[in-house]
Amino acid sequence: MDEPVIVVTRRWPAPVEEELVRRHGRVRLNRDDLPLGPGGLRAALEQADVVLPTVSDRLGAELFEGTLRTKFLGNFGVGYDHIDTEAAAKAGIVVTNTPGVLTDATADTAMTLLLMIARRAGEGEREVRAGRWTGWRPTHLMGAEVTGKTLGILGMGRIGVAVARRGHFGFGMPVVFYDPVDVEPDHGIPGARRVGTTGEVLALADFVSLHMPGGGANTHLIDAAALARMKPTAFLINSARGDVIDQQALIAALRSGTIAGAGLDVYEGEPEIPHELRELDNAVLLPHLGSATRQSRTAMGMLVLNNLQDFLAGREPSCRVA
Ligand code: DGY
Repeated sequence: MDEPVIVVTRRWPAPVEEELVRRHGRVRLNRDDLPLGPGGLRAALEQADVVLPTVSDRLGAELFEGTLRTKFLGNFGVGYDHIDTEAAAKAGIVVTNTPGVLTDATADTAMTLLLMIARRAGEGEREVRAGRWTGWRPTHLMGAEVTGKTLGILGMGRIGVAVARRGHFGFGMPVVFYDPVDVEPDHGIPGARRVGTTGEVLALADFVSLHMPGGGANTHLIDAAALARMKPTAFLINSARGDVIDQQALIAALRSGTIAGAGLDVYEGEPEIPHELRELDNAVLLPHLGSATRQSRTAMGMLVLNNLQDFLAGREPSCRVA
């Protein structure tokens, strides 16, 4: 394919945009950084050989119907539940993602949520900024201890393992985990205990951290019944995908005290977040920052470029998912 037409759907870190232009000359960058929306994405698929989307682009089956020019979709991100990969493959499109380079950044975000919700850091920060802090006192904003508490991991892929290691080696947390496909006994974490079901992790853990892909059978895996299995003193952490949790059920559980709190980086239907959730003090809410370090986002972009280079050279891209 000579001089492919390339569309990038959002702003990328400057070093990656520069490298893309250096390698491929004229590229349609999204200088305004506004989401293209379904119409813009469909136009890109009709006009460009290569489309480089990300998690904020919904590429459902309907966008892949009919005649398209695109042959390569290089997703900027590891999760690709926003792309109907089956429909893309049927349309003859190769799809890639960016695993590995965001593992540490995302695991750090999960730990940030865990520490913030346990120690009521969001509440404290709001109090200080609002000028409401009246000084030190023995009963002020008492939170939950983290050290030595049981960490439950659902989804023991790269990021789940990285969170488990942080919890165990950094905070002395015993680890209990479930993963439907992974077969490693303990991932080199002393005493880490694999159990046979999601429910066992929910019942045993003081902190449950979610690390499975979104979509499919994982949609609303954490529903009202699952939340009811957790200890009333336990916290739920989600840096995976919003749809894994039934958000309305979570709001009800946080209101009624079924669980103690939640630290969330991802949401159903983001960036919309229901005001009922925004009003809750026992929820820490971040704006999908999981991989948002300069190092990680630059590495993600460079990996998209390498996947594209392999594709254009007729080689199998190492991060092909469809
Ligand atoms: C991903 O990579 O899937 C994240 O959600 C965005 O960094």
